Amino acid sequence: MDAIFNPADDAPECVRIKGVHKFFGAVHVLRGIDLSIRRGEVCVVIGPSGSGKSTLLRCINQLEGISAGRIYLNGELIGYREANGRLNSLPEAKIAVQRRSTGMVFQRFNLFPHKTAVENVMEGPLKVKKTPRAEAIRRASELLERVGLADRANYYPTQLSGGQQQRVAIARAMAMEPNILLFDEPTSALDPELVGEVLDVIRGLAKTGITMMVVTHEIGFAREVGNHLVFMDGGMILEEGPPAEVIAAPKNARTQSFLAKVL
Ligand SMILES: Nc1ncnc2c1ncn2[C@@H]1O[C@H](COP(=O)(O)OP(=O)(O)O)[C@@H](O)[C@H]1O
Ligand SMILES: [Mg+2]
Repeated sequence: MDAIFNPADDAPECVRIKGVHKFFGAVHVLRGIDLSIRRGEVCVVIGPSGSGKSTLLRCINQLEGISAGRIYLNGELIGYREANGRLNSLPEAKIAVQRRSTGMVFQRFNLFPHKTAVENVMEGPLKVKKTPRAEAIRRASELLERVGLADRANYYPTQLSGGQQQRVAIARAMAMEPNILLFDEPTSALDPELVGEVLDVIRGLAKTGITMMVVTHEIGFAREVGNHLVFMDGGMILEEGPPAEVIAAPKNARTQSFLAKVL
């Protein structure tokens, strides 16, 4: 098998998260997150349920605003404009433009049910990027081929298995040519026999140098495909490092007890 893509030590930062906190009402869900992801990295995020993994992805994707701190994508502060040391929220239209640089793949595939696979993939480029129709079809077909679904282009979601729907969702996220792909437990809603085909697609993308952040319970997959592992618990990053090292010899007691339960 080919080696995974490893970014150069001096690869530029794709994501920088500084001192991020998030409250839902009185509930303090993210408690001071600092994280740097370099371009080309595959950052895998593990941790118990309720530790804030989804919330962190949703903040990067700006589906949620943050309560404190800063998030930069390719050096650009997202969600806010900073003037004279003060932060002002950006207008929704500007946030929508920034959001396009992050592609999100959800646990549940969220495809448009009344659109075929190829129509789902070309929707963003057509409507948002104003890509000419013929070009959008050509690109969408290429992406479906990349996820192994060239022969399912004209099927509707209900005619596809969960694994196939998730692969369409990955192609759809890639169609907007994001700087980073964010995966929130992309296989956890799938029947066990369909997990492999989706992991294979993500594994294939990991080799191409696309920057990715993958929340997953598949520890073996995290070790194999990730080149940066993050362990979250209680809204904090308690440990991070090379996946094989952290998994083989976790330093933090909570990482140890989590891994003991899932391995
Ligand atoms: N929209 C919301 N409103 C209130 N609480 C929320 C909301 N979303 C998540 N939470 C809470 O935030 C915490 C972290 O949730 P989440 O980010 O989904 O964790 P994980 O993905 O690690 O399981 C949980 O306690 C959850 O109940
Ligand atoms: Mg979650």
